[in-house]
Amino acid sequence: MCGIVGYIGNGNVYDVLIKGLQRLEYRGYDSAGIALLTPDNKINVYKTRGKVSALENFCRDKNTESRLGIAHTRWATHGEPTDNNAHPHYSEDGNLALVHNGTIENFKVLKDALQQHGVHFHTETDTEVLVQLIEFIKVQNSCSLLDAVREALKQVVGAYAMAVIDKNEPDQIIAARKSSPLVVGIGDDEMFLASDATPFVDHTKNVVYIDDEHIAIIRKGEPLRIVDFENKESKVSVKQLEWSISQLEKGGYPHFMLKEIFEQPETLRDCIRGRAVADQGKVILNGVLSNSEKFLDANRIIIVACGTSWHASLLGKSLIQQFCRIPVDVEYASEFRYSKPVITDKDVVIAVSQSGETADTLAAIQIARDKGAFVYGISNVVGSSIPRNTASGTYIHVGPEIGVASTKAFTGQVMVFTLLALQIAQLKGSMPQEEIQAMLDCICRMPEYVAEVLKLDKAIQRLSLIFTYARNFIYLGRGYSYPVALEGALKLKEISYIHAEGYPAAEMKHGPIALIDPGFPVIAVATKSATYDKTVSNLMECKARGAKVIVVATEGDEEINKIADCIIRVPAVRDVFSPITASVPLQLLAREVAILRGCDVDQPRNLAKSVTVE
Ligand code: M6R
Repeated sequence: MCGIVGYIGNGNVYDVLIKGLQRLEYRGYDSAGIALLTPDNKINVYKTRGKVSALENFCRDKNTESRLGIAHTRWATHGEPTDNNAHPHYSEDGNLALVHNGTIENFKVLKDALQQHGVHFHTETDTEVLVQLIEFIKVQNSCSLLDAVREALKQVVGAYAMAVIDKNEPDQIIAARKSSPLVVGIGDDEMFLASDATPFVDHTKNVVYIDDEHIAIIRKGEPLRIVDFENKESKVSVKQLEWSISQLEKGGYPHFMLKEIFEQPETLRDCIRGRAVADQGKVILNGVLSNSEKFLDANRIIIVACGTSWHASLLGKSLIQQFCRIPVDVEYASEFRYSKPVITDKDVVIAVSQSGETADTLAAIQIARDKGAFVYGISNVVGSSIPRNTASGTYIHVGPEIGVASTKAFTGQVMVFTLLALQIAQLKGSMPQEEIQAMLDCICRMPEYVAEVLKLDKAIQRLSLIFTYARNFIYLGRGYSYPVALEGALKLKEISYIHAEGYPAAEMKHGPIALIDPGFPVIAVATKSATYDKTVSNLMECKARGAKVIVVATEGDEEINKIADCIIRVPAVRDVFSPITASVPLQLLAREVAILRGCDVDQPRNLAKSVTVE
């Protein structure tokens, strides 16, 4: 949450920073700001409530000439999203400007101490404490900015990625991280820093991921240096970025979300490439193969995740239990850490996260590691914190997901869980080879099936029109379709702000059916499966009470016509694969309803893509 970006080089600093902020806007969009060091070593800070476009308007008549700068897009934690609370924050004497992503947990204690020394504060943020503390130490100790930052960070409790500039030490940006992401991009005679590599991918593919509790010293005309808080020099390890610029643009689509929904045939292909080797009857998931004894000896698998990743994990549980006969628990990462979990070194913990930066999931990983469990990561963002903090893992390889509502990451995660369960089953011998072969054949056809589903977009657009009146939705499913119902409901509520709940269909009569009155929309995922007949009975119960029933059903299912008011037909696939085909129309439906309601599909209110605070 929050995005930070910095630039030092011969390019137009303002343009680079604004473009960078636009790319990072998915991380928060409550306010935006920029600090520019002018050619005569003054710092101009411009900041405003609202999105990056508001900042651009604000800067239109301002002096933006500069030699280096830092910038920020905010998801508010401490202090309302006002102009004043927007970053960058500056020290009292105006010598320093600082941007920060994360939370300073002991800010109150530090603030009180600084106030006792006569320091005045001008904002409600925790971040201002950091910049004032650095300035205070710098003046007290007559030391360099670097030394002041090191000393200050030793006093700070919390999570941060920060960058600071000093008008008395021009041509330098000092940046540091603890538990929040920070990468440096190294170009020709220019360097970038950012919360992720998206701001500079069109300038350089050479990236350095800064480790926790390390400081990057970015100076004009000098190579990047990294030190720890004790000033011990660290090796600078440059990695190559694989992203392309087209993956970060809308490519003719009105929204990233729509682009990402339509990319799914391709992203599923990328996800299974080299892993589902149908002509050899094999699954090749290297992270599992090279740790096979961990999975085969596991007493239990615990999956930790949040949001959409948690829904994919519920499917992971069903797949692993069914294919491998290993007990699996799924936990909200945010609850796991406070539940005094019983974990042993015979457990395998799988952490699932699109961004690889979710603070709660990272904290759950730490607990599992401390207890000696083998921790496996499923993530999308290469080089993010979760792959770097897990013993092994698998990337879903769906490319950058920019829309706040997760779509292609969900289907990628489900696909990886399918491969993972099949891989363990193959190693364990818990599934006959003919069955594995049939699964592999189906996996290879999934991109085509999803392409078929996407042809429903116009029909779903028409269907959405009749639901503009509804303020509540219920989504139902059983078995593999239950997590799909949860995910469908989450998509609707997060981008259209309509209340929606997902339930296992049979649970309706234990309470929620009381909500049903004439016209109440019930969306059911009732594809052909072992629980199909039971689901139909549950829908009849809703229908009998006046519900308007929309069903995601299997092509060729005529029986469903008797109860459904509207039907969305998806290709017939084995029930374990139906979550992938059935979730796509629900993604489209949520988007259509959100558009009709005039909502900001890619940047829904109050949300941010990467949740780096607890
Ligand atoms: O990056 P992660 O997968 O760890 O993110 C977890 C959730 O914050 C995320 O899935 C969120 O629920 C999405 N906005 C849902 O669309």
